[in-house]
Amino acid sequence: MERDGKNKSLWQDKVPEYKPKKFEPDNKLYDVVIVGGGVTGITTAHELQKRGFQCVVAEARNLCFGTSGGTTAHLNTFFDKTYAEVVSDFGKKESELLATAARDAIDLYKNNVGSLMIDCEFSEHEGYVFAQNEKQAKELEEMYSSSLEAGVQVKYAEKIPVEIPFLKAISYAGQWQVHPVKYIYGLAEAFEAKGGRIFENCFITGVDHGEILSLHYEGGTLQAKRLIYATHIPPGVNLLHMRCAPYRSYVMAIELEDGQYPEDPAYDMEDPYHYYRTQETNGKKYLIAGGEDHKTGHEEDTELPFTRLESYLRGIFKIKTIHFKWSSQYFEPADGLAYIGQIPGGPENIFVATGFGGNGMIYSHIAAKVLTEKITNSPDPYDHLFSPARVKPFAGFSSFVKENADVAVSFITGRFSMDHLSDTEKMETDSGRVVKMDHESVAIYKNNSGSLFAVHPVCTHLKCVVTWNQTEKSWDCPCHGARYAVDGTVLTGPSVRGLARIEIPVNHS
Ligand code: FES
Repeated sequence: MERDGKNKSLWQDKVPEYKPKKFEPDNKLYDVVIVGGGVTGITTAHELQKRGFQCVVAEARNLCFGTSGGTTAHLNTFFDKTYAEVVSDFGKKESELLATAARDAIDLYKNNVGSLMIDCEFSEHEGYVFAQNEKQAKELEEMYSSSLEAGVQVKYAEKIPVEIPFLKAISYAGQWQVHPVKYIYGLAEAFEAKGGRIFENCFITGVDHGEILSLHYEGGTLQAKRLIYATHIPPGVNLLHMRCAPYRSYVMAIELEDGQYPEDPAYDMEDPYHYYRTQETNGKKYLIAGGEDHKTGHEEDTELPFTRLESYLRGIFKIKTIHFKWSSQYFEPADGLAYIGQIPGGPENIFVATGFGGNGMIYSHIAAKVLTEKITNSPDPYDHLFSPARVKPFAGFSSFVKENADVAVSFITGRFSMDHLSDTEKMETDSGRVVKMDHESVAIYKNNSGSLFAVHPVCTHLKCVVTWNQTEKSWDCPCHGARYAVDGTVLTGPSVRGLARIEIPVNHS
C-alpha cells in the first residue's frame, strides 16, 4: 500500500495491499460517487449501500493513500475542541449533540466490526487526559464538568498509564483503538461483496454540474446523481478553504526496552499535545507516540519535529528501537467543529466532509451517518451543528483568517531565504529547495545520485508558493494544504493539476 508521504507508517507494515475488483468503465448512472478511498469514503459508501444506493468510490491512487494510512486511529468520545468550548461557542444542547454523535460513531465501528467480523485489532480502553501545571489543571476541571454535563462518561483518576508527573487527571470510559487499514480493507471487501464498486487510480479532474453530474477523469467520465468529496478538503475554490487550515502531525511507533507499554491511551495538555498508546500488531507491541504538530509549511526543516519528539520521548520511555516514524496532514476547522453536508455555494447534489482536525477517525463515522441521513432525506439531528454553511462568529476567527492570509504573503515575500540555481551544488542529496533561476523561482529536488528535478513552485490551486517537506519528500502548499510529489504530480488536493516541470539548463553556473 502506498501513502502520500515517503515515510512508511506502521499500518503499511505486513498488510497485503487491497486489490479491488477490476473496474470496467461503463455508462451507468450511479446514485452516488464518493471521491476518496479513505475511512470516510469507504464507510459512507457502505452506509449508503445499506440503504439501497448504488455507489462507486473513486480514489485517485489506492485505498488509504491519504491520511487514513497515516492516522493514529484513536476513537474517542472527546474532541480537540473541548465540550466546555462547544458550550461557549455553540451552546449546551450542541455539546450534548456532539457527545451523542461521538457515541453513535463508535457504535457504528462496533457494528461494522461485529457484523462483518473484521479482524482489525479493535479494542476498548479508558482514555486518560492529564494536567501538568495549575493552568492545565483548571482547564482539566472544566473539561471534566463540561464532559459530564454533555453526557460523556468521565471520572477523576488517581493514576495514569504513563510514567509522567502530573497534577490532576481524568479518564474517559469507552475509548477504542483500531488498525485503520485492516478496518478499511474489511469494510471495502464487504462493500464490494454486495455489489459496490471501487475505482482506484481515478483522479477526478473536473465535474459538470446538473441533475446528473459528470465526473471527468483521465480517460473517461462517471455519471452520478450525487457526489460526495471525502478527500479531506474539497477541490476547487470554496469557502471551506478559508475556514480550514492544514496542519502536519508527527508520530513514531517504538519498541520499548523494558516492555512497559501503557495499557490505555494517555494525552497531555501541552499545545500541541502529545499522546501515547500501545498497538499490538502482527504479534509485536509498539508504543505509538505523537505530537509536535505545526501548520503546514511553517517548519523549515520537517525532520526537526521528529528530533524534538524523540528527545522528549527518551526522557520518559526506555526506547529500544524506533521502527516507524511518519507524519500526516489534517485540516483544522476555524470554529473547531467539522463541516459535513452540502458544499457551500455549490449545487444541492454535491456534499463534503472536511475540517476533522485531529479527530478524523471519529468524524469519518459521524460524516458517514450525517451524509447518509441527508442523502436519504431522513431527519438529521446534527444538521445545524456540522453545517458547512454555518457562519459562527467566535473569538479568534479574524486572527484565523488573517493567519491564513499571512501565510501566503510570508512565503511570497521570501520568509525562507532563497539561493540561486548555482548554489544547488551545495544542496544535500535527496532534498529540495526553492531557488532563483534567471530571476524566476524554481522548486528544485536533488535526488540521491545528484540529478536535479525542477518544477514551477506556484501552487496550481490559488497560487501560493510551495515549500519543501524534507521528511515526506514532497512540495507542500502552506495556504490550503495541496501537496505535490517531486515530479510535480498531485499527492493531496485541493489542487487538481500538478506543478509544471521545468527543464534545467545543463550548465547552470
Ligand atoms: Fe490553495 Fe495552494 S492549496 S494555494
